[in-house]
Amino acid sequence: MAPVALSVEEKYDASQFQPSHLGKTTQGSFTVSQKNQNLALYPEYLPTWNPLQKFPPYKFQKFHDRGLDASENLSSLFPADGPQKIKRLTPRLGSEVDGIQLSQLDDQAKSDLARFVSDRGVVIFKNQDFNSKGPEFAINFMKYFGTLHTHPTSGAPEKFPQMHITFRGASQEEIDSVFAKNLNSILWHSDCSYSLNALQLTLFSCLQLPESGGDTLFANTVEAYNRLSPAMQERLEGLHILHSSVEQAAANKKAGGITRREAETNIHPIVRVNPTTGKKHLYVNKEFGRRIIELKKEESEYLLNFLYDHIEKSQDLQVRVSWQPDTIVLWNNATTVHTPCVDFDEPVIRHAYRISVMGERPVSDLKHLNDENYLKEKYEEYGL
Ligand SMILES: [Fe+2]
Repeated sequence: MAPVALSVEEKYDASQFQPSHLGKTTQGSFTVSQKNQNLALYPEYLPTWNPLQKFPPYKFQKFHDRGLDASENLSSLFPADGPQKIKRLTPRLGSEVDGIQLSQLDDQAKSDLARFVSDRGVVIFKNQDFNSKGPEFAINFMKYFGTLHTHPTSGAPEKFPQMHITFRGASQEEIDSVFAKNLNSILWHSDCSYSLNALQLTLFSCLQLPESGGDTLFANTVEAYNRLSPAMQERLEGLHILHSSVEQAAANKKAGGITRREAETNIHPIVRVNPTTGKKHLYVNKEFGRRIIELKKEESEYLLNFLYDHIEKSQDLQVRVSWQPDTIVLWNNATTVHTPCVDFDEPVIRHAYRISVMGERPVSDLKHLNDENYLKEKYEEYGL
């Protein structure tokens, strides 16, 4: 098929290879500069890129959402006499929980957690002891929820490719590069939406960070769908978007980065159903969404731009998360979109990690859930 067109200006992405990453590990992988290695508070979490590491293409996987196994009233996670304090960050999206140590949860409480994150979209847990336990602990915690995604190009600790590291060095040059070609750093997206099995439950934590800056903005795509008129909702039924990582892979290659898995292109419905809550939501994002395949180019651009504008301007379905040391945030990468806010002005390290579970292949109707042959005719028609 014809190559997909670039739809967005290339933007700064701290998880991708930077030309300043001139360090080498004893195994021969690229890593951050010696100066940044010396300044890092958590060296075991530093990103590395191994030129010899290659991963095969992802294949379809069946998925069972742990949220479906949750206890009534989420009583294992939130016992009636428990110490937890729960606060809604906004009525439409996000909750903050204090008084629970995630590392202590048993399996039933973790299933409750999956359901709670599906319900609230984004959940902040403060004062967690995860980071001091090392990368393996966090990875094992997330394995309970499903297969962990390995990113095709981002940096990861040498033994833990499932850990996606975002690292901005203590460099004024790196800060200045953010706005060199763009007026802002905002780029709303759903992580790796080009993947066949979409990324779902996601954990993010900052290990080292400046006093302020680097917030993440989230938007609720269930609410964004519900706000549309019945006539517009009906118009979107049966439409599909081509999602692709071709441009991200090319930008990474241009910066001298490593490609561990070849770029992916997949077709997903524009309106998706969450298998845990049964709620419909928009599945559109500017970073990886390319075009609505059933429409002509101009029609597709018109409709997609309307949906992007709707989500991005509706601050009454969004929440802004400020990162703190030892705060763990979990989000549902299907029912929300998010954007970084790269507003730093001082050359201080910002070091964080992300671990994502691969969820179900997106479907427009739950009767297609876990059907490997879903959209087979469309894949044949578009030569994918
Ligand atoms: Fe992201």
